[in-house]
Amino acid sequence: MSANLKVLFPAEQIASRVAELGIQLRADHPGETITLIAVLKGSVLFLADLARAVPGDVRLEFLGVASYHGGTSSSGAVQITQDLRASIEGQACVIVEDIVDTGLTMDYLLRTLAVRGPRSLKVACLLDKPGNRETDVQVDYVGFTIPDEFVVGYGLDLGELYRNLPFVAVYQP
Ligand code: IMP
Repeated sequence: MSANLKVLFPAEQIASRVAELGIQLRADHPGETITLIAVLKGSVLFLADLARAVPGDVRLEFLGVASYHGGTSSSGAVQITQDLRASIEGQACVIVEDIVDTGLTMDYLLRTLAVRGPRSLKVACLLDKPGNRETDVQVDYVGFTIPDEFVVGYGLDLGELYRNLPFVAVYQP
């Protein structure tokens, strides 16, 4: 861990924001079983905490997506590497993502999942980088809005490293 990492959001700040998001998700889906669809791999830490912050029933589903290939800029190409195991027809779904950057991944996922007939389909991301947007994708729940910098930690990686950091940091090569 010799790279320069500048802590942006310490673990405590993430925990309190995720707790708020969980309450908000439940308030927007009263009495419903919420299907949280985690986008692998970056969102797994966020998912684990968010799922525990939502009171009441949730289901967990996982979707494997490749959009970045180990670098710090988007390739723009999106590929599903692991599809959902179950139908989401008629379910209240929330896509759980680590970060929305260009928005190309989320735009693709929304279009792909919408045709499967969910009752509702929303988006929760830990981090939003609106400065780099290439589509006008709607993000319903945002943990933190950040400037256009490359961040790692709390699930976010650079070449598969740094996902296990309990905080989010700006990566300075
Ligand atoms: P988008 O399609 O450009 O919105 O990119 C979405 C994906 O790119 C995210 O799910 C991340 O995996 C990756 N990504 C975008 N920005 C960052 C970053 O700052 N750090 C780590 N991964 C990022």
